[in-house]
Amino acid sequence: MTSKPCPFARPLVVLFVFALAAGCSKNRPAPPLVAPAQRAAGVPAPDIEQLLARMTLEEKVGQMVQVSRVELSGAEVRDLYLGSVLNGGNDLFHPNTPSGWADGIDRLQMYALSTRLGIPMVYGVDAVHGHAGVRGATVFPHNIGLGATRNPQLAEQVGKITALEGAATGVRWAFAPCIAVPRDERWGRTYEGFGETAELATLFGPAVVRGLQGQKLGAPDSILACAKHFVGDGATDKGIDQGDAKISEEELRSIHLPGYAAAVKAGVGSVMVSYSSWNGQRLHGQKYLITDVLKGELGFEGFVVSDWEGIEQMSTSFAENVENAINAGIDMAMTSKSYRSFIRTLKRHINAGRIPVARVDDAVRRILRVKAAAGLWEHPMANRRLAAEFGSPEHRVVARDAVRQSMVLLKNDKGVLPLGKTAKVSVTGSKAKDMGSQCGGWTMGWQGRTGPVTPGTTIQRAIEHAVAAGGAVTSARDADVVVVVVGETPYAEGSGDNRNPTLSGSDRGAIESARESGKPVVTVLVTGRPLVIQDWLSLTDALVVAWLPGTEGSGVADVLFGDYKPTGKLPHSWPRSVEQIPINQGDASYDPLFPYGFGLSY
Ligand code: BGC
Ligand code: BGC
Repeated sequence: MTSKPCPFARPLVVLFVFALAAGCSKNRPAPPLVAPAQRAAGVPAPDIEQLLARMTLEEKVGQMVQVSRVELSGAEVRDLYLGSVLNGGNDLFHPNTPSGWADGIDRLQMYALSTRLGIPMVYGVDAVHGHAGVRGATVFPHNIGLGATRNPQLAEQVGKITALEGAATGVRWAFAPCIAVPRDERWGRTYEGFGETAELATLFGPAVVRGLQGQKLGAPDSILACAKHFVGDGATDKGIDQGDAKISEEELRSIHLPGYAAAVKAGVGSVMVSYSSWNGQRLHGQKYLITDVLKGELGFEGFVVSDWEGIEQMSTSFAENVENAINAGIDMAMTSKSYRSFIRTLKRHINAGRIPVARVDDAVRRILRVKAAAGLWEHPMANRRLAAEFGSPEHRVVARDAVRQSMVLLKNDKGVLPLGKTAKVSVTGSKAKDMGSQCGGWTMGWQGRTGPVTPGTTIQRAIEHAVAAGGAVTSARDADVVVVVVGETPYAEGSGDNRNPTLSGSDRGAIESARESGKPVVTVLVTGRPLVIQDWLSLTDALVVAWLPGTEGSGVADVLFGDYKPTGKLPHSWPRSVEQIPINQGDASYDPLFPYGFGLSY
């Protein structure tokens, strides 16, 4: 390697490629070969091996680090050569608009492009049911609802729209799909998975990957997908988030691994490691599962990212954690406050030979290959042309379709449903006009929020529209039928763990007063998991599960009024009692209230 400054310091794409081949100074920073402004307009992706050969240790280590945006100054993206920046669930841009996001993300990208090698950073966000941190985004049903549709083609469309709305704002990586197989409904992340069987994970995981990444990753409206959380996150004992999956390898392989095999086959570019443990050992240190099984056996060629501070949480020794996690096969660390010590520690391990350079090269090669495939050199900046389609009526039509296909009809006595459009309907219940609750967690904030968080159609408003021509929404006294919309209040991750998944006393009270009105009662459940309902099921004539439908409440009305005959099937066995949890299809003694796959129609 020559130590002269690179001779091709001219803003010409062709020369840039030559320069890579010639190999500029390895250790001394040279001026950018192509000025950032030119790079922003797009340059061809370089040859990854030649690029790797030119990188300093600092530049390599930087690629392996992802930092939460709010911890960073933009200039650090440049000065630390960071490979990626993430948007924590609570870290919304101001103004919270597509261009507010695009401006903020593009600014960080300019810093990345102004580094010596101009390697673009990739910006990641939890777009797990649409790009739901951005006001005005199309918010789709959470995965549990998609699982109920049994329609992977529809889920692929959902992924495609999510990618487009993400790319419009400069987001190039979604931490989705979650292909957890939640086996215990007490788990707060039950709604993030498609359902309790490997079958649903293998059906829907690849569909969403194809939707997000497009036929070929790299199109300007596609974004990188991330299958998570590897592996067995849905198997933790008692459904405790980040807990311990006490299961045999056979069970791990037959229930929790198939989704990954399918996602890898579909070309998923990244995989996120689970916070949880397998038989007492943290996944973040599981070389066997990450390197031997995922990268070896399943042939995964993308890169593996840790979960948020997942490496920091492994044990009390930060240094050991970094060593064990990277040697286990984690390629990129998702960090927040500890990024500087992470970088220092990683460099120290490499210099001391505790982490082989070959391991580092493998990690960086994987990251760069995926970035190249994702078209980050060609289109590093937000695709602002797509902003016109952000949250568009066309996108909402697909979301509404997903909602109606996700609705599961569990009970319909005396044919109370479908309702007539000339009916006088009383609409009550805590979730009837609560956009935040119908969207659930990971919406306009990590935990989600109640209230009018983002534009859309509440279930009550959708019912009002449905009867506008000939019926009415009225008081219970004057009504032909009472529709009670009740269920869960938003949550995410461990704060959603619930040892007693039932309705609140006041929600139950709403059903009781509906019953007392003497009118037929239709209950709509807005929920991220099956709730134990046996104590009040007899009080309602009809019961429809809407899961967490997102912004398009009209899909709920479509089913209530028979514009769409229900086709949704339970993605989980519905327990009779809290004591019966966990209960799953295939259990030796299986006696649920409603079996997996159950769903009535008209
Ligand atoms: C969650 C992941 C998420 C990450 C980034 C973690 O707490 O477990 O699912 O992708 O944070 O927000
Ligand atoms: C979440 C982030 C969130 C943060 C809040 C993490 O576990 O995944 O997305 O913003 O916690 O502290």
